[in-house]
Amino acid sequence: MPQRYLVTAALPYANGPFHIGHIAGAYIPADIYVRWLRLCGEDVVFVCGSDENGAAITIQAKRENTSPKAIVDKYHEQLKTGAEQLGISFDIYHRTSDPLHHQTAQEFFKVLYNNGAFIEKESEQLYDEKFQQFLADRYVKGTCPNCGYEAAYGDQCEKCGSTLSPNDLINPVSTLSNETPILRTTKHWYLRLGNYEQWVGQWIEDQQTVERWKAHVYGSCQSWLKQGLDDRAMTRDLDWGVPVPLPNAEGKVLYVWLDAPIGYISATKALFEERGTPDLWRKYWQDQDTKLVHFIGKDNIVFHCIIFPIMLHAHGNYVLPTNVPANQFLNLDGEKLSTSRNYAVWLLDYLRDFPEQQDVLRYTLTSNMPEKKDSDFSWEDLQTKNNSELVSILGNLVNRIMVLLHKNFGGTIPEVFPEPRTIIEEAAFELRQYQRNLHYNVDQFLQQYEFRAGLQEVMNLARAANKFLTDTEPWKLIKTNPDQAGAVLTIGVEVMAYLAVYIEPFLPFTAEKMRKMLHLSDDDVAAVKTNKFVAEVGRELAPAELLFHKIEDSTIAPFVADLRHKRAILQTAQQTVTDNTSNSETSINAAPLKEAISYDDFAKLDIRTATIIAAERVPKADKLLQLTVDLGFEQRTVVSGIAAHYAPEQIIGQKVLLLANLAPRKLRGIESNGMILMAGDGEQLLFVASQGDIADGSTVS
Ligand code: MF3
Ligand code: ZN
Repeated sequence: MPQRYLVTAALPYANGPFHIGHIAGAYIPADIYVRWLRLCGEDVVFVCGSDENGAAITIQAKRENTSPKAIVDKYHEQLKTGAEQLGISFDIYHRTSDPLHHQTAQEFFKVLYNNGAFIEKESEQLYDEKFQQFLADRYVKGTCPNCGYEAAYGDQCEKCGSTLSPNDLINPVSTLSNETPILRTTKHWYLRLGNYEQWVGQWIEDQQTVERWKAHVYGSCQSWLKQGLDDRAMTRDLDWGVPVPLPNAEGKVLYVWLDAPIGYISATKALFEERGTPDLWRKYWQDQDTKLVHFIGKDNIVFHCIIFPIMLHAHGNYVLPTNVPANQFLNLDGEKLSTSRNYAVWLLDYLRDFPEQQDVLRYTLTSNMPEKKDSDFSWEDLQTKNNSELVSILGNLVNRIMVLLHKNFGGTIPEVFPEPRTIIEEAAFELRQYQRNLHYNVDQFLQQYEFRAGLQEVMNLARAANKFLTDTEPWKLIKTNPDQAGAVLTIGVEVMAYLAVYIEPFLPFTAEKMRKMLHLSDDDVAAVKTNKFVAEVGRELAPAELLFHKIEDSTIAPFVADLRHKRAILQTAQQTVTDNTSNSETSINAAPLKEAISYDDFAKLDIRTATIIAAERVPKADKLLQLTVDLGFEQRTVVSGIAAHYAPEQIIGQKVLLLANLAPRKLRGIESNGMILMAGDGEQLLFVASQGDIADGSTVS
């Protein structure tokens, strides 16, 4: 009996299109997993759709000066098209503005309500009078109470990193109207997460014995649980979304994070309505034999591992996820992707700029998938992966076999006498072993959501086959022993058949081309899966087709340049807001900051402008110069460790800053009265001085 699976990929927000970070994070891994399960004959349903509710949509509508409906229609279309063109094989791509979803979410809410999962509470929240709207945390800006940064958001200060709530901000301003919001009382329904805290903690523990979750997923669950779960508002004051199905709830909608995961359920319902078996969705959601697996990015972990399971449990009668194999983040050229700052590679742009090369992107993102830690995408890496792996290993193998067969054997599998066949089989011993174990090995990796390793396993069969060709040299055997050459190429075709079948979850477009070249029927594919496939004598092959094309430097250069340009803009923007969570390269090289001092500590320093009027070397000290410094009102002797960087005659007349109240010290028998300030990065040592003309002895503060 096949195992029943329900696989979901996070519903993307319909306020923008897909970028490659989304794709590498959730959609490619989910698609590989699902294609693998189908290949193994499991019973699997793969659902997704657009997440179309919430304040983010209404804000985007205001930004684009249009209606929320227009926004979700536009981006739903773009998201759906992008996924389709990349070969993400959803059984259904639904949307949460659909009436079926509204109805499903409302029913779900009512059951939770009747089960006592909510508590009704009144609170004061910031309200924008001009826009007549309560303000979501992100839409309030103001001064951070901790560090004084003036553009802190209502949920977090980007400067000092502290977590805030909008009511903490000093001088809050609505980002919608730029006006000061007022406080207004409002009523909401809060999910009593605290009541389920013990249950969910135990359930997560139990899950680890069934199927071990990824360490970072389990770890972040633990840290949420350690903080304790507070009641969480599950409704909002908004005129867009799923209306709260209760009397006295005028103007209230379900919180988007309540209704979005229910979107998985409504998508499944829609799928089985489409298939004419409207009740079958229940089997997938309510029969405990189902394995439910959620593919998401790491920012969604708490919702899928804690809140949604609590909802399902509080509702009753639903299966709970077996695993939530969240990925970490994909960075771009070393920087965090950012939609709002336009630092991203958009999927639709890639598909337009690299037509027919979906698998190049799939390959690059899979072999670099942020499975356990953040990873990095660069155009140079895509070029390298294409040229030295796809072209050189897989493409080259297929091309050599096909061309030799067409050139020497009329494109058909030749008849070969048993003896040469045996000799060649011996040479193919390792290759055959690889081929035989491929299914098992890939399965082991994919069961653990290790997609990078799974892909490498398949590529290793191609590597082994290339080695076999290099060892046996069929292009030479053609002349010396055509029978042996025929045997080599027959084995080559058989290996190609295995590659065509097992590369399919990863590179479906390539797999399709390979199947066509070999004229593989469904029966042939079934034979491969049971390790029984043989290329029978007389099988006719289609003409050879190049699977991959080299990407030239000149092709990739404009993309590299474009990204560098975007990164430069991004980094300039970041310097104004020093984000202490970012780890850009410059801050890694810089010396660590010293501990904080008070203003009073600083005010003790007496720093003055001055001019060097004489300089000479200090005998027997190759680092020291003895300087005479003019302070306007007096002259001083200062010993300075700059001899490695400056010759005495070079610096006469140099304007400097002098720490004038440093207690006198003796260096090599010379009393030094003060210290010249220098800027240094470990290599250079530069004088620091005031810009423009100012009298010696002026103060610095
Ligand atoms: N829209 C959310 C995001 O982009 C993901 C929603 S996942 C689901 O982060 F659970 F709501 F489906
Ligand atoms: Zn701050």
